Amino acid sequence: MRLIPLVNADQVCLWAAHYIADRINAFAPTADRPFVLGLPTGSTPLGTYRELIRLHQAGELSFRHVVTFNMDEYIGLPATHPHSYHYFMYEHFFQHIDILPGNIHIPNGNADDMVAECQQYEASIRRFGGVHLFMGGVGSNGHIAFNEPMTPFDSRTQVTTLTDITRQDNSRFFDNNLSLVPSQAVTVGLGTLLDAEEVMLLVTGEHKALALQAAVEGEIAPLWPISCLRIHQRSMIVCDKAATHAL
Ligand code: GLP
Repeated sequence: MRLIPLVNADQVCLWAAHYIADRINAFAPTADRPFVLGLPTGSTPLGTYRELIRLHQAGELSFRHVVTFNMDEYIGLPATHPHSYHYFMYEHFFQHIDILPGNIHIPNGNADDMVAECQQYEASIRRFGGVHLFMGGVGSNGHIAFNEPMTPFDSRTQVTTLTDITRQDNSRFFDNNLSLVPSQAVTVGLGTLLDAEEVMLLVTGEHKALALQAAVEGEIAPLWPISCLRIHQRSMIVCDKAATHAL
């Protein structure tokens, strides 16, 4: 696992955007050979999305032959709900770039049969030959996507129950009203993430310091899902100075 320590969150976002752009451009994707990109939501990657949009608008990057798979989605929020991850992704990224709608994949948190939905999501990733680069964030308790502490490292896409810490952390997006935060979500598994050719996590802010410490110095164990990055051959964490506080 590589650790890329930068000064502040803005630099982390820019670094990640340029890394993604370089990888896509070097791959030179075509319709028959698309670049497969895994994507997160959350406040951390917003600056990365802004920079990717800027690069696209400057004519330096096209998403025409990029296929995306999002990490997760709440259960029970309609896709049109402003706090659904569907809405978030179109609002902050997809509507501003030239990605083909059919190339966008986000788990459906409203499927009648969630078991089938999870299996189909895994099958779609396999159909494209796997993810080339998975970008992610991390929760203050070390969760990746919605893989909460104690999720096995070989887990696959599944429905999960959110911990109180995660619901509290995310309540800021729901007018700080905890009762509005869904208690379940659908998430790619840690095994799904670790199958990607490359994994890049963005970790910023002092409130993520313990998660970063667990990732870098702690035991590799499900108590801190982020520690799974150390068993991946091509993983990296891009962090700011505040997040290194506990190292
Ligand atoms: C949510 C998402 C995660 C994300 C985390 C951190 O729980 N499911 O994928 O990494 O929030 O969000 P933020 O970047 O806002 O701190």
